[in-house]
Amino acid sequence: MPESTTTSPFDGVASEPGVAKPDPILVVDGVERHFGGLVAVDVDHLEVQRGVITALIGPNGAGKTTLFNLLTGFDRPNQGTWSFEGEDLGRVPSHKVARRGMVRTFQLTKALSRLTVLDNMLLGATDQRGERFLSGLFKPSWAAQEESNTARAEALLDRFNLLEKRDDYAGELSGGQRKLLEMARALMVEPSLIMLDEPMAGVNPALVQSLLHHVTALRDEGRSIIFVEHDMDVVMNISDWVVVLAQGKVIAEGPPAAILGNKTVIDAYLGGDDEDEDDPSLDAPASGTDGSSPAGQDGHTPAADSGATPPDDEGDVPAADDRVTPPDDAADGPDDQRPGGPR
Ligand SMILES: Nc1ncnc2c1ncn2[C@@H]1O[C@H](COP(=O)(O)OP(=O)(O)OP(=O)(O)O)[C@@H](O)[C@H]1O
Ligand SMILES: [Mg+2]
Repeated sequence: MPESTTTSPFDGVASEPGVAKPDPILVVDGVERHFGGLVAVDVDHLEVQRGVITALIGPNGAGKTTLFNLLTGFDRPNQGTWSFEGEDLGRVPSHKVARRGMVRTFQLTKALSRLTVLDNMLLGATDQRGERFLSGLFKPSWAAQEESNTARAEALLDRFNLLEKRDDYAGELSGGQRKLLEMARALMVEPSLIMLDEPMAGVNPALVQSLLHHVTALRDEGRSIIFVEHDMDVVMNISDWVVVLAQGKVIAEGPPAAILGNKTVIDAYLGGDDEDEDDPSLDAPASGTDGSSPAGQDGHTPAADSGATPPDDEGDVPAADDRVTPPDDAADGPDDQRPGGPR
């Protein structure tokens, strides 16, 4: 029987935490991350469906970024397993995770200010043959690789309206352009799963539409996307499925419309944020701009570059008290953390 265009992969999938999906690209089991006495992530079971946009939402401090860090090899869990495309990813370092086709962007953009836009793109390329000993001996193959990486980088920059900036320092870009650059750079590895941590955060409203368009275009070309977002208008607009995290646990899952009126979800938001107590709707944070964390106060990511840097050891995780001061240059700064107040 030919498939109807209205068929959803979620037909028949119950709106329940941990529910099985028909074709999961990512499966998480029993993943926990503790920081001292704090349980930041405690995900019993989570499946991310292939070929759709999944929104990961939850109050500040719910564990969304920490979960991204764990799954992409930038941090290590206390326990748990997860698989991507059916293959175990536990203890696989971040650059290898990216090569396997699962990339993430950062809540706090990690574009390297003192490199050009093009060089930032090239750093995102996988399979740098010139760095390998044997094939490095054969310059022609290395040069061909370099050339094709540059061509791919330029095509992506063009797609993200950044081509004319290719020789500018990334530090000269606006916040929104940096977000675009990060998304473009993530695509250098031809990922099948793209994890975006607050891609609209700090973005000028004029660029938000463009970013949204890019996210849906990625889905429409067959990729899977999981993105963290606080603006419920955006979530309602572009996501096919919503996963809600609170205090590290998946407390609800379902299509956007089902999540909006979910009492457990509303309670989780109200419980975590006293200032919102008068407003039981979930779409409070956006107010026309980005609904994101305050600029420069978010995104404690342990490593500097999604594709090129192995994970820090747990011993390098900063103490909680060290995390309240934003770095001077947010883009290149060390690990940091927002104070955790309401936005
Ligand atoms: N490196 C760390 N050391 C100690 N505690 C941490 C560290 N990273 C995160 N935490 C804590 O873990 C919890 C989850 O944080 P996380 O940043 O993952 O939340 P989040 O859902 O991404 O929040 P937000 O929406 O504000 O970005 C918070 O209580 C946070 O303070
Ligand atoms: Mg976060």
